[in-house]
Amino acid sequence: MAEPRPKSVRIPSAKPRIAVIGAGVIGLGIAWRLAAAGCPVQVFDRAAAGAGASRAAAGMLAACMETEPGEERLLGLTRASQDRWPAFAAELLAATGIDVDLRTEGTLFAALNADDAARLRFLHDFHRGLGLPIDWLDGAEARRREPFLHPGVPAALYSAVDHQVDNRRLSAALLAAARNAGAEVHEHTEVARVLVEGGRAAGLAVGDTTIPADVVVLAAGAWSRGIDGLPKEALPPVRPIKGQMLSLRMDPAAPLLNHVVWTTGAYLVPRRDGTLIVGATTEEKGFDDSLTAGGLLSLLEGVWRALPSAAELPIIETWTGFRPGSRDDAPILGHGVVDGLVYATGHHRNGILLAPITADTVADLILSGEADAVIRPYEIARFAA
Ligand code: FAD
Ligand code: GLY
Repeated sequence: MAEPRPKSVRIPSAKPRIAVIGAGVIGLGIAWRLAAAGCPVQVFDRAAAGAGASRAAAGMLAACMETEPGEERLLGLTRASQDRWPAFAAELLAATGIDVDLRTEGTLFAALNADDAARLRFLHDFHRGLGLPIDWLDGAEARRREPFLHPGVPAALYSAVDHQVDNRRLSAALLAAARNAGAEVHEHTEVARVLVEGGRAAGLAVGDTTIPADVVVLAAGAWSRGIDGLPKEALPPVRPIKGQMLSLRMDPAAPLLNHVVWTTGAYLVPRRDGTLIVGATTEEKGFDDSLTAGGLLSLLEGVWRALPSAAELPIIETWTGFRPGSRDDAPILGHGVVDGLVYATGHHRNGILLAPITADTVADLILSGEADAVIRPYEIARFAA
């Protein structure tokens, strides 16, 4: 069940003026919480709100299935955010009337041959060692749950707690919630620089205008390192990790899948409206946003091998996006060397999953001055050592 938000947040009587750089799910979620607490909040995005990685994502809330060796330390944060998702989605619906379509069928990881099954065995042992609730299914049970999987599937893993939301609806809901709470969201308005005076963030330069602020939140996703005005030691080590994606059209009355399905080379995310999201490549190509034959081929091959009847489905969209990857693949949250500057970036493959806990804990940090224990390991200071 969802954890309740802490009731004892200490809110200063003077509400700090907040300026947020970036209107993705991270910046909007923080803006919503702070505006709802009575702070004057302005959010700036050089594009449309939610048009960055938040639009490109698949919307999986895969705290368990996506954890691989080396990523164990993130589980405290990712599982805590996963727990918050049902209440977060319900709160957004109540605040805006927008349903973010939280689907709770869970996630399968399907092996396609004996080699895959051996790899899944290793992954399953690893997951069980961490106490994650992931079950081993034989091929017959996997196909009973998803009858259109390839008939040769020998085994699968199943997570009953890794769900999905429609991330594009999530951005729309967060934008509406932030505005309804009183935040001013300025779309198509680029932040030129952070104004730093006497070692303290004093606001933003936006075109010819100065926006004074008591707190600046850096939530510019994969672009967070490119914002001018900050001293070198305050620049977050964030870079773009390119992902190519496509979507197919299923019949919503007779969908080929209901669970999220991972397989070698691709993951498949079925939406209730019949859209089947197929993702994603992982590429170190800077901000190159081209779709490539090889990238799309690998996705199409992945979906065709796992779900042969998908070969008949029409393609509805292809796109690329940039995950904000930090040097250690974990988010950067909280204060750094510039007073008044708060980081909320580097969410890499998990920014949709981590949207609730980031919104709650970063807003609480700004209001109370104290970092929740769950985000303390994610301060930018860890890179200075
Ligand atoms: P963004 O959504 O990128 O927002 C940053 C915003 O900052 C942008 O809108 C940009 O226009 C704005 N900006 C940049 N520079 C400036 C400036 N100078 N002035 C004003 N605005 C500026 N996560 C999951 O949890 N589950 C998934 O299934 C999943 N799948 C993914 C699949 C792909 C292909 C990709 C690319 C990502 C995926 N992610 C997933 C990761 C997730 O999308 C990101 O971690 C998350 O969206 C980051 O949100 P954000 O708000 O930090 O960044
Ligand atoms: N979390 C899925 C991805 O980043 O592709």
